[in-house]
Amino acid sequence: SAAEKAGYASFMLKEIAEQPKAVADTLLGRIDGFGTLSLDEVRIPPEALREADKVVIVACGTAFHAGLIAKYAIEHWTRIPCEVELASEFRYRDPILDQQTLVIAVSQSGETMDTLMALRHAREQGARVLAICNTNGSTIPRESDAVLYTHAGPEVAVASTKAFLTQLVACYLVALYLAQVRGTKYGDEIRAVVRDLSSIAGSVERVLGAMGPVRELARTLAHKDTVLFLGRHVGYPVALEGALKLKELAYMHAEGFAAGELKHGPIALVEDGLPVVVVVPSPRGRSVLHDKIVSNIQEIRARGARTIVIAEDGDEEVTPYADHLIRVPPTPTLLQPLVATVPLQVFACELATARGNEVDQPRNLAKSVTVE
Ligand code: AGP
Repeated sequence: SAAEKAGYASFMLKEIAEQPKAVADTLLGRIDGFGTLSLDEVRIPPEALREADKVVIVACGTAFHAGLIAKYAIEHWTRIPCEVELASEFRYRDPILDQQTLVIAVSQSGETMDTLMALRHAREQGARVLAICNTNGSTIPRESDAVLYTHAGPEVAVASTKAFLTQLVACYLVALYLAQVRGTKYGDEIRAVVRDLSSIAGSVERVLGAMGPVRELARTLAHKDTVLFLGRHVGYPVALEGALKLKELAYMHAEGFAAGELKHGPIALVEDGLPVVVVVPSPRGRSVLHDKIVSNIQEIRARGARTIVIAEDGDEEVTPYADHLIRVPPTPTLLQPLVATVPLQVFACELATARGNEVDQPRNLAKSVTVE
């Protein structure tokens, strides 16, 4: 009903706006002032977490994109090898799992059949399963060894927005917790990341406050057939998520690519006027990554692409090559998906509306897919 939408035109817009709170709520009470994490729903004994020699993340759709981002954080902070796989592919390929494997099942609804089947398969092989889930008491957490709940609150729109951001937060928390238990990162370092994480709700709020030009841009692209999305490192899964949102909501052809793969094929798609969204990491720190993507933007622009660049405030290197510039607050690269995804959600939502689509209930889709 209109009342439930609290004045927003759609549940999706309401849920996009709720993201700062969802992120803050998911962090709440999980870190003490000494930079120590206590994830009390994680009921896998610390010894087992110390002995784990592999992490495997299984999920579908948007939750899978959260998993792809988690891989970067887990491997960087814990040095445990991490694989991420679509739940629907995972169990049909006879994956190698044992008691030393920690499987993380990510699901908003907790009822996605493909993810449930993957976790059952993992448990049959002796692996321990941790669920990251937004729905209390749903099937996936009930069948897992442990659960870390995301506190996004109910997500009604079919397209996942706030659940995704909280899945990312939960993944970062699990990665840091693993690092803490295994001793690869201690108080100080954990505290530094946690400090960055705790200011992120404010950054998301700032991004949301500056979405006017993104909406305007989306409306001018409503007649286009295709939009491409490019990113590197964690920006690559962000590109995949931006493309998925556009497919789901605007029913447009959209594809996300790793920017480094451009020259291996996709650059052939670039023609005059093709909108290409590029996610640019922070120029601070890992500047190699930044330099690489700046040259990717030049490459596509030289071939006629209309470049829509998402870059950090103060990053002037990208300015000459951006037909449209979307600014996000400075954020360490690993955490940047929390801010960079937000304009892509707004972009897809506005484009869908401009094309006359029903954003909360896209055609052919269900909120949770309880069949295989
Ligand atoms: C997200 O916008 C999608 N509607 C869909 O990809 C979803 O993320 C996927 O079906 C997984 O759902 P779950 O998180 O409830 O398991």
